Amino acid sequence: MQAFIKYIKRNIPKIPTFYKEYNEAIEYIILNKGKLFRPKLLLSIVKAYEPLLLESSFKIAFALELFHTYSLIHDDLPAMDNSSTRRGKKTLHVLYNDALAILIGDAFNTYAFELISKSAFREDVRLKLIQILATNGGIAGMVLGQAIDLAYEKKKLTLEQLKELHINKTAKLIAASLAMGAIIVDLPKELQKKLYEFGIDLGLLFQVQDDILDAISNENELGKPVNKDIDKNTYTTLLGVEGAIEYANNLANSLQNKLNEFEAPLQAALKEVLDKYLFRHQK
Ligand code: IPE
Ligand code: IPE
Ligand code: MG
Ligand code: MG
Ligand code: MG
Repeated sequence: MQAFIKYIKRNIPKIPTFYKEYNEAIEYIILNKGKLFRPKLLLSIVKAYEPLLLESSFKIAFALELFHTYSLIHDDLPAMDNSSTRRGKKTLHVLYNDALAILIGDAFNTYAFELISKSAFREDVRLKLIQILATNGGIAGMVLGQAIDLAYEKKKLTLEQLKELHINKTAKLIAASLAMGAIIVDLPKELQKKLYEFGIDLGLLFQVQDDILDAISNENELGKPVNKDIDKNTYTTLLGVEGAIEYANNLANSLQNKLNEFEAPLQAALKEVLDKYLFRHQK
């Protein structure tokens, strides 16, 4: 991951303009990186099957992280979750203003696709990567999930509806991360599909854990405000903390079993990344 982090630092866009704060805001938000979970997933697949493609995949992993960062910048806005800190620092709209935060989010959304389109991969591979990110991140993916999340604050969803919300707002992008790795190394269709489905369960777990941590962790640990979800539909508000932890345990155990059925290189690659995450709600 060190090499990827170096890559990010070397590739912070520097836009030729007299508007200095624009570049400063871009640099601020990129340098304040998070766990890089989605790039880690993508790169672990590439490393397992085609290590020679790892460096060319950095651009794609960076695009994915920029897309995710756009979703967070918007998520934190006053009109959405109204959060003042993210990754231990001031959110972009607090440091600058809402308009610039909205626009930097927009910029990262489109820049992600620009980067993929300019990557070193074959045209058909680039097209598939663009499609999968757009399909899972956009109108019927993350954006839909965020829309449901906000529209149903203070209105109770059923567990089935909550699952749909979480799959859209979080799981689809995580599933896309694995599928994008699979596309780069040209895994058989069957395996690509299996990985995507694994990613949906993993992404659902990831959001359930995020819900649990909002209720039981602290701002110091998470780098973002806690107890933000009291009026929201989350696994903790619907099932209680205990119930959510039990739900997460079951999901994590079932993922571990699925992991053990994958072929050896895939298993090894994913275990390395997931070791830290499958039971993070217990830490
Ligand atoms: C936060 O994502 C939003 C969710 C989808 C739960 P991460 O937990 O991956 O945040 P960073 O990127 O590490 O900050
Ligand atoms: C956000 O979910 C998911 C996104 C698509 C950004 P949350 O609102 O729970 O994420 P945090 O807790 O602010 O990171
Ligand atoms: Mg939110
Ligand atoms: Mg939020
Ligand atoms: Mg949260």
